[in-house]
Amino acid sequence: MGRAATTVDIPGIFKTGFEAQKIQLKCSICQLFSHVWGIEQSKLFCRVVTFETMPTIRFVREGRDVQCKPGENLRQIALKEGIQLYGLKGTLGNCGGCGQCITCFVSVEGGNERALSPMTEVEKLKLKNRPSNWRLACQCVVQSSLIVLTKPQSPPANTKELIKDALSKDLSR
Ligand code: FES
Repeated sequence: MGRAATTVDIPGIFKTGFEAQKIQLKCSICQLFSHVWGIEQSKLFCRVVTFETMPTIRFVREGRDVQCKPGENLRQIALKEGIQLYGLKGTLGNCGGCGQCITCFVSVEGGNERALSPMTEVEKLKLKNRPSNWRLACQCVVQSSLIVLTKPQSPPANTKELIKDALSKDLSR
């Protein structure tokens, strides 16, 4: 048949309590074709309809939950939401998201290990002497819900309580 599968993304439809980020529903017409003529589902034209949930980013310091689309950049989300990502140095001057100024630190305090995209080569280099849960926000793509602390280099006095509180609440809404 040679036609690509049609994928329809409808963010935010399913906000269930379980982890699944994608719920795949087979198109009923294709199911019928498949059933009647034994055509492999993958060869059909509207093979799969994909519903994606919107990840939640819980910002511990700010006490805020922000929703985004899967694949959005963490730095961009923080800036868009008015979350102060930078300390003094980064506020006075940052690289604009190129991974060069090393001022957009966040620490990941919760979420599964694939909640953010894998570390980039830049991060591996720049963060080699930092704690293993630190990331550069500008290098991170959000894939599923997670909990982050901004500016972990200068944590608030009550960090432990804030993190404990953040972890105690359900991330999926
Ligand atoms: S904004 Fe410069 S390293 Fe992230």
